[in-house]
Amino acid sequence: MRKHIVAGNWKMNNDLAQTENLITDLRKQMKTSDSEVMIAPSFTNLWQAFQTLREDETIEVIAQNMHFAESGAYTGEVSASMLKSIGIQTVILGHSERRAYFNETDESLAKKVAAALANDMRVIFCFGEELQDRKAGKEENIVASQIKTALFHLDANAYKHIVLAYEPVWAIGTGETASPDQAQDMHAFIRKTLADKYGGDVANSVSILYGGSVKPNNAKEIFSKPDVDGGLIGGASLKAEDFYAIVNAF
Ligand code: 13P
Repeated sequence: MRKHIVAGNWKMNNDLAQTENLITDLRKQMKTSDSEVMIAPSFTNLWQAFQTLREDETIEVIAQNMHFAESGAYTGEVSASMLKSIGIQTVILGHSERRAYFNETDESLAKKVAAALANDMRVIFCFGEELQDRKAGKEENIVASQIKTALFHLDANAYKHIVLAYEPVWAIGTGETASPDQAQDMHAFIRKTLADKYGGDVANSVSILYGGSVKPNNAKEIFSKPDVDGGLIGGASLKAEDFYAIVNAF
């Protein structure tokens, strides 16, 4: 069975004290859950978050980004081995905000994915179409091209360490979600794209998360769809009660 995963992407929110407070609140809400639960604080707070939660097997602390190089003259960047050295095992790559504001492309993301896997990290790879693509009926072409360019250099075995996150750009932070049927249709298409290249066993083993305005009041319906294996949560992950309401929506 595929893993259910609910990951909170905190983006550029929460200083150190706020990070500690939110983790304290999350612990109060915590119940045993069959889903894997993850939080992605900012780089400056990863170490503290990891230390606070290290005895706690129920929340994994993950990173929002990393550079593809192992080390070197890349001012302001953080490498996979640096993340690994503080205990971080999983990294989000390709978020639409990284693509939009920091010029990340599927070509550069292919290098980041390879670097993360070479360091034995797990990758949550994000992609999704923009509003104009959907209006033009091109959403499947865009998504297929993102997946092929960034991931199809991998061999089938690598998919044990890959989680996909479909995040339609028009649904991120807008309060407008893809309908459960739109999410299901796209997730089924993504799985078929994987199956065509790697076969059904690989395609059926990869968890595909949906992201974009997932809230406590819509999570259950979205998560009820057969190809939706969890969520990547932005705004609603900043309130412990809302985040756990979403975790518990499975
Ligand atoms: P929102 O849940 O705020 O729409 O953000 C989604 C997202 O970008 C998660 O990575």
